[in-house]
Amino acid sequence: MACPMMHDTRPYRSVLYIPASRARAMEKAKGLPVDAIIFDLEDAVIVDEKAPARDLLRDRLAEGGFGPRVQIVRINGFDTEWGRDDLDTIAAASPQAILLPKVNGPADIEALAALLDQRPETADTRIWAMMETPLGVLNAARIAAVPRVAGFVLGTNDLAKDLNARSREAMVTSLQLCLLAARAHGLICIDGVYNAFKDEDGLAAECRQGRDFGFDGKTLIHPAQIATANAIFAPSDAELDLARRQIDAFDSATARGEGVAVVDGKIVENLHVETARATLAKADAIAALEAA
Ligand code: COA
Ligand code: MG
Repeated sequence: MACPMMHDTRPYRSVLYIPASRARAMEKAKGLPVDAIIFDLEDAVIVDEKAPARDLLRDRLAEGGFGPRVQIVRINGFDTEWGRDDLDTIAAASPQAILLPKVNGPADIEALAALLDQRPETADTRIWAMMETPLGVLNAARIAAVPRVAGFVLGTNDLAKDLNARSREAMVTSLQLCLLAARAHGLICIDGVYNAFKDEDGLAAECRQGRDFGFDGKTLIHPAQIATANAIFAPSDAELDLARRQIDAFDSATARGEGVAVVDGKIVENLHVETARATLAKADAIAALEAA
């Protein structure tokens, strides 16, 4: 069994899907400024390419070269004819994380965890859950509570399909239920994709909305989307400046024996200082990643 997970403090601003059938795209990813990669064996890979893609992916993961980018493999579900073979093949490369599609409840996660436990190569492999079915969203808190789960990825295309929803607004309850569950259990939570990959303004607006909801980052489908997500999910210069001034003001107030400071006409209490410190820590983590 893997060690209990420390809270993951790595940045996840940009999480790029790459179809594992596309050797050239996988090679290209080694030079892209993404925080994490989801190598996909599921919906982005056509039936005829499922088997060669999983062999190619095992070899590429074993070779390495992806640097500090977090590497996550999305396998097919175990209710398909490919899921078990995907896991058996990819396990040989000791993947950092397996992303399970269409998770409906904790039993789906426990079944995967039991298979990972059987092999020494996957002793440290974490589990991520695609949150993309109505039942999965309703069971989000129980899914997040399974110890091996490290993160949620919102599958907003599947969710819209199952909900018969035609807008982002119609999915807000689902997004927030997943965020609540993720935060209650210390998980990373990544927003769904923005399909119109040539519409930069639309992507930026959705990234800002996702950031303001509390997501750690956005899943992406094309390299052209990376810079926008990286910028919007990073603390801005103004946020960093405010964070430093809040910490300084609070320290001065404490030195005077007071428990509350005022910055820009707004009160600063202990909890605001915690947020300010988290903002600075996030910027440091991004700087360290970019230097690596
Ligand atoms: N990851 C890494 N590189 C990618 C990429 C991705 N997701 N998508 C495109 N690229 C690369 C291409 O290989 C190409 O590189 P090259 O010029 O060195 O050959 C470059 O970026 C430009 O690609 P472009 O021609 O604009 O796109 P495309 O027509 O080849 O592909 C998509 C467009 C949408 C089919 C493709 O981006 C894709 O498959 N995205 C992922 C889809 C996915 O995984 N979906 C499942 C989850 S929703
Ligand atoms: Mg899906």
